[in-house]
Amino acid sequence: MKKENRAPIHEQKILEDPQQYTWFAQISNIVRLKRKLPEDFSVWPLQEKNKSELSELYSTSYSRKIVKNLVEAQKEMDHVFQNEYGLLDFSASFNVMHKNMIVASIITVKQAPWDDTPSGPFIIELMVKPYHRRLGIAEYLLRHIAVNLADSGAKTIALRVMSDNIKALKLYRKCGFVSWDDALEVV
Ligand SMILES: CC(C)(COP(=O)(O)OP(=O)(O)OC[C@H]1O[C@@H](n2cnc3c(N)ncnc32)[C@H](O)[C@@H]1OP(=O)(O)O)[C@@H](O)C(=O)NCCC(=O)NCCS
Repeated sequence: MKKENRAPIHEQKILEDPQQYTWFAQISNIVRLKRKLPEDFSVWPLQEKNKSELSELYSTSYSRKIVKNLVEAQKEMDHVFQNEYGLLDFSASFNVMHKNMIVASIITVKQAPWDDTPSGPFIIELMVKPYHRRLGIAEYLLRHIAVNLADSGAKTIALRVMSDNIKALKLYRKCGFVSWDDALEVV
């Protein structure tokens, strides 16, 4: 069957058990995005001193199926800042602030620690507080880090997403990400 006549792998698997898939994008495509931050929101570099606020953000951003409670969220953020998911890239990790509160964050490592991921920058977290969604904040953050990464010579960026995370899948598709599995099939 011709590749374009069937659903991409991530869509075929949505109906089965949700699984985590790697997606990747050309940074040059993300840089072309136009979304601006809404008025009264500003972007700030990620700092370890933000850890407890980021834990709260993480806990409120995901369902209880993903993160049970704040304690679990705090452990997750400890892992992040201990570089257990790869060495943090502070030039591509930012928070969005609104009224002195962190309402969104993007966290990137220089290289993911897993074998089944492409080399180069890898987004380990992207989260926006539920109340501030659909304002273009995630799209803005993706472009913001893409500009910095392009300046440092990176060509592609990757991340992992659950096959049933429809909001995230729509966001990533809009921003030019494709499934790494599909890309490998073409090679
Ligand atoms: C996924 C997530 C980061 C999106 O953040 P956001 O700031 O609301 O997204 P944006 O407003 O920048 O949306 C940009 C585009 O993504 C798509 N999109 C985002 N949310 C969507 C939704 N709920 N339904 C449909 N499309 C959506 C749309 O194409 C949208 O463009 P449009 O506004 O022109 O239609 C946010 O829902 C979130 O934090 N979810 C929980 C954490 C998570 O799952 N993170 C991803 C882990 S891989």
